[in-house]
Amino acid sequence: MNATQEQLKLKFEQALVAAFGADFAGVDPILVAASNPKFGDYQANVALSLSKKLGKQPRAIASTIVEKLDVSEICEPPEIAGPGFINLKLKTAYLEAQLNAIQPDPRLGMPTAKTPQREIVDFSSPNIAKEMHVGHLRSTIIGDSIARVLEFQGHDVLRLNHVGDWGTQFGMLIAYLREVYPEALTTANALDIGDLVTFYRKAKQRFDADEAFQETARQEVVRLQAGAEDTLHAWKLLCEQSRQEFQVIYDLLNVRVIERGESFYNPLLPGVVEDLEKSGLLVENQGAKCVFVEGFTNREGEPLPLIVQKSDGGYNYATTDLAALRYRIRQDEAKRIIYVTDAGQSNHFAQFIKVARKAGWVPDDVELVHVPFGLVLGEDGKKFKTRSGDTVRLRDLLDEAIARARTDLELRLKEEERQETEEFINKVAEVVGISAVKYADLSQNRTSNYIFSYDKMLDLKGNTAPYMLYAYARIQGISRKGGISFEELGDNAKVVLQHETELALAKYLLQLDEVINTVEQDLLPHRLCEYLYELSKKFNQFYDRDRGVQVLNAEEPLRTSRLVLCDLTARTLKLGLSLLGIQVLERM
Ligand code: ARG
Repeated sequence: MNATQEQLKLKFEQALVAAFGADFAGVDPILVAASNPKFGDYQANVALSLSKKLGKQPRAIASTIVEKLDVSEICEPPEIAGPGFINLKLKTAYLEAQLNAIQPDPRLGMPTAKTPQREIVDFSSPNIAKEMHVGHLRSTIIGDSIARVLEFQGHDVLRLNHVGDWGTQFGMLIAYLREVYPEALTTANALDIGDLVTFYRKAKQRFDADEAFQETARQEVVRLQAGAEDTLHAWKLLCEQSRQEFQVIYDLLNVRVIERGESFYNPLLPGVVEDLEKSGLLVENQGAKCVFVEGFTNREGEPLPLIVQKSDGGYNYATTDLAALRYRIRQDEAKRIIYVTDAGQSNHFAQFIKVARKAGWVPDDVELVHVPFGLVLGEDGKKFKTRSGDTVRLRDLLDEAIARARTDLELRLKEEERQETEEFINKVAEVVGISAVKYADLSQNRTSNYIFSYDKMLDLKGNTAPYMLYAYARIQGISRKGGISFEELGDNAKVVLQHETELALAKYLLQLDEVINTVEQDLLPHRLCEYLYELSKKFNQFYDRDRGVQVLNAEEPLRTSRLVLCDLTARTLKLGLSLLGIQVLERM
């Protein structure tokens, strides 16, 4: 709901009480956007819903409500239509006043959350010694955008990188490196991540084939868990190596995240198992400690347990998530925990969350949300791979996007016979390339799979980053052309709305708060993309030579008013894009 709708709702609630008595306090007026702009902006359907209760015709109820309804400051006189809808049309003077009020505000009139709270966004979370893959890219981009929206709303957001930095894979890797490349375990930067990934693969092959090696690897895990100095040192070096590589990606993407990996919760794992035991939820199954909760079965329909401790004493991914959950609730005092991973992990989240609830670890005022996303596919509709069939390195993927953006730009500069500095070209190529990758990801409903296509994401037309960035730069072009600075339009710059494209733009500008509120709730950033895309279309209609209005050549006071509309549109785009982690360009 936007601010206007909220005000109207309040007026309706007062009218309902005035018309039918205190029993009707809190009845929902069922206020929705008008189905057809011809009938106005909003319609209230409450009269139809009350017909049975009041034993009267909806139209009669509607007219009783309208008699008591005082919306004269906001709307034209309400009209009753059809079986008993109450149609509302916003007054132009009201819209003008709203725009004039948000104009000087850097937040564009966006309120902050009524009850700010601590929220955790668990995102990105790649695994040490493995390459970050496109799934982690999605998690990073989506998680960052969600965190940005929540921060903007005034929440106290903890951005956590739950990196996979613990577990049996380290025993394997360390045991292998001891044999083939011991320097890597004692000297910093002896490996780069590419080598590390290769060694990891070889260690795994060795592990699967050689029983004696399995035993050595296991002992290495025991040494690691016991804190043996040399093993611990080796582990730290390996983590540091991966960390540096991850940081390159975070820097390119301009994403901030605090590393708190699985190892952090390691000392808390025995406590999780003990407490499950105490609460009587633990069952021994072939030596493993398990918890059974309803609703989880394997393919044969047999109950599928959550294993919290394996028969060899080792702990699992889920055990760590249970420990992390308790820590985040008790120590971090989180009120909402948001996990951003691929949809393939949905069962994992559903199951351990159910176990935690059953154990009584989740207070009523804490919300746990898994934010799943679909796969990234190649243009052939299959899993995203390089031409030679290898997994795509994220570094290469981002570099490629930047390189292509640069080629596009250079071509355009040539066509437009423009000379630009190398610095300008580098900057534009980087912003466009990175934004294109981010926007392509965020503009899809995250729950579906999407096809990764450089050509599509870099297209200047359509719902793409270049289109949005261009819309912004074009508005800045108006101010350059007119030799005026939007910031200096001054306090007496007032909006006057006349033309229908102006009204449409004005109304749409005032809906930003509604979109941001929705994203805060449903955590679907594509809604914000849709809004921004629609906004730039509305702006283009307003600025269209034939269907729209004159701006720089208009007479006062319309000229100033229209410049204010341009400025408000640009600032809305800039703000919206910033919540998607996308930086704007004044010129491109
Ligand atoms: N490291 C995991 C992976 O690469 C993602 C971790 C997600 N967060 C969590 N709390 N389980 O799949």
